[in-house]
Amino acid sequence: MNITVLGIGYVGLVTGTCLAEIGNDVVCFDVDHEKIDLLRTGEVPFHERDLAELIRRNAASSRLRFTSDVADAVRHGEVIFIATGTPARRDGSANLDTSSRPRAASASTCRTTRSSFRNRPFRWGPRNASEG
Ligand SMILES: NC(=O)c1ccc[n+]([C@@H]2O[C@H](COP(=O)([O-])OP(=O)(O)OC[C@H]3O[C@@H](n4cnc5c(N)ncnc54)[C@H](O)[C@@H]3O)[C@@H](O)[C@H]2O)c1
Repeated sequence: MNITVLGIGYVGLVTGTCLAEIGNDVVCFDVDHEKIDLLRTGEVPFHERDLAELIRRNAASSRLRFTSDVADAVRHGEVIFIATGTPARRDGSANLDTSSRPRAASASTCRTTRSSFRNRPFRWGPRNASEG
């Protein structure tokens, strides 16, 4: 399956790499261009046991790719994981702006390039409790 991961910090990078390791074709996007460049050279921005080797292996077999082009990333994915950070606001509540931007980018790209998405019964964001 073609999978996209938007936001490749601790959660996104590990998720994307493991999904590639089990045979999916994964494209990872991040707004941090330096992080993308680093990963393309085989460097990993944090320590997680065996992660560097898993990234190297899957990148070498073209199952794992890193891009700074959000449209390229979104076009690729049949399924899109958003793993951007949720920093705290001054009042302690979660700042969800970092996830709403990639959601908007995904929605606009899907509307123009992935017509099959339009007819699928999916929704963004959490379900209301009243919807069961
Ligand atoms: N790390 C954990 O153990 C953990 C556990 C449970 C839940 N979470 C949640 O998972 C999410 C990710 O956590 P994390 O620890 O990987 O965060 P992180 O800060 O390590 O990574 C977030 C990444 O998102 C990128 N990003 C920010 N805005 C973006 C955008 N608009 N488009 C694309 N990329 C963008 C950042 O550059 C960064 O690389 C958060 O919502 C966090 O609350 C994390």
